[in-house]
Amino acid sequence: MRSDTPTATTAPAPTTTTTLVHTPATGAAEWWRTAVIYQVYPRSFADASGDGIGDLAGITSRLPHLARLGVDAVWLSPFYRSPQHDAGYDVADYRDVDPLFGTLDDFDTMLAAAHRYRIRVIVDLVPNHTSNEHAWFRAALTAAPGSPERARYVFRDGRGPDGAAPPNNWTSVFGGTAWTRVTEPDGTPGQWYLHLFDTTQPDLDWTNPEVRAEFESVLRFWLDRGVDGFRVDVAHGMVKEPGLPDWAGSSSMIEGAHEGTTGSEDGSTGAGNQGPMWDQDGVHDIYRSWHAVLAEYDGDRALVAEAWVEPLSRLARYVRPDEMQQAFNFSFLTALWSAPVLREVVTASLEANDAVGAPTTWVLSNHDVVRHTSRLGLEVPGSKPNGIGAGDPQPDEALGLRRARAATLMMLALPGSAYLYQGEELGLPEHTSLDDDERQDPTWWRSEHTERGRDGCRVPLPWAADEPAFGFSPTGAAWLTQPESYRRYALDAQRGTAGSTYEVYRSALRLRREFRLGSGSLAWVDGLPAGAHCTVLAFVNRELLVITNFGPDALRLPADLTLVHASDDLPVADDDAVLVPPDTTVWARLTA
Ligand code: GLC
Repeated sequence: MRSDTPTATTAPAPTTTTTLVHTPATGAAEWWRTAVIYQVYPRSFADASGDGIGDLAGITSRLPHLARLGVDAVWLSPFYRSPQHDAGYDVADYRDVDPLFGTLDDFDTMLAAAHRYRIRVIVDLVPNHTSNEHAWFRAALTAAPGSPERARYVFRDGRGPDGAAPPNNWTSVFGGTAWTRVTEPDGTPGQWYLHLFDTTQPDLDWTNPEVRAEFESVLRFWLDRGVDGFRVDVAHGMVKEPGLPDWAGSSSMIEGAHEGTTGSEDGSTGAGNQGPMWDQDGVHDIYRSWHAVLAEYDGDRALVAEAWVEPLSRLARYVRPDEMQQAFNFSFLTALWSAPVLREVVTASLEANDAVGAPTTWVLSNHDVVRHTSRLGLEVPGSKPNGIGAGDPQPDEALGLRRARAATLMMLALPGSAYLYQGEELGLPEHTSLDDDERQDPTWWRSEHTERGRDGCRVPLPWAADEPAFGFSPTGAAWLTQPESYRRYALDAQRGTAGSTYEVYRSALRLRREFRLGSGSLAWVDGLPAGAHCTVLAFVNRELLVITNFGPDALRLPADLTLVHASDDLPVADDDAVLVPPDTTVWARLTA
């Protein structure tokens, strides 16, 4: 395509000065250091049974898609027995599959099939709380205050003369108080139990050796079946400050990103929090013991921390050599769409993890946040509302997708391990006009309908444009209604179509392997033309130069670069120079 777009700047030449911030690790070759890990949210991935809820057999049937896409591993959100008050993050039995998703046999079949495709499988472990329908909690309710059954959870007497006020002022992450009062077996109003999340998710007391022993046994149950690792839910919340002191701050795990700045000197973006329920030193003891359990098994099994902790140096404590293998990098996820902000976050992330010998992870979307295609189409690109509804300001869908593809190509060129959330390879936007009556995230009612919550990123995937429920389910049933726009994003509408988001992802994953970017290096290109440091991000990883244009004008690509990949079509100027339009990332090969 010819273009006469005015261009202000020439992209950096490969010969300009660079700042090296990360060198390839030597000797460390475990798979999780460089893996691309795809998050499957089972209820929304593929439904084989036809009840409108995805299941394990559905995952097995779609493994060829994941193999063709080129991912190294999958992480499965919970499929255990659960009353589903928080979409399975309320576990009633850690050693069984919920009938909604199938059986243990279906799990074994899926795991074996994934391994045949050389795809590793990480399962979700939810140790901060159980379901209120877990046998332990049922026993706690019928037992007396002070009993061993209650000692597995955080039961306390209420405040005030009649104990009618909660034991402290903590609020739940989903809104409202973090305490619920029980009725004692004799019918009198009784003690209170702590739940950092929904009332149906009572927190366990991790100072109790019985709790620790039980979870080591649960780890072994799944390790014996052959899983390759665990994503550890709320890994920063399991130990609370002794005495459970009042806390005036918000207990939200996901504080909003600071607008326009990184908010701190070390690349922190506001993903962390400091309350007495988060990031207590005692959690590290637990991870050291789990590390030892995994080390008894072959095959480099891995623990991944879901820890909304900042600064990044504090997060890196979770991935010290004798603790977990990885931690999600939420500072990166919450960074705004800005070259200086991203440069700072990437640098700080690599420095913090390199200091403890751990790989840095990169992630843009998951089942708890608005999809990055939609976040990046908001007025403040990259800002992070807790859900978007029909009455809210709507993202610019085309602009958001363009930026999302650019962000993804930048991410996939970074050294370390990257996480993809199901559907992002299709460029799926958030469902921003879901009927409020359909919402199932407890956030929606616990916040008294002020926060729409996470259903919009959890809508079932479109596989085939012209099939019922876009191929999600053979009967056309879907637990959340898919928007009509998903027809355009269906896999079969994109497969084999050059330039489709799916093909851009697929090529990126192939090239990432070919160029060994995961185990590569990172050097920022500094010799940018005056002013461009605010609008251009450029780095070198091995022999690739990666350029993202955040500015309003197209960049000219120097003639001595060979184009390897791009997040969108690149126009050509009248003098034959290749142009990098706004909100585009290119990968180019450096000529010696
Ligand atoms: C984690 C999960 C989230 C869940 C919460 C409570 O943040 O990712 O989906 O609601 O923990 O288990």
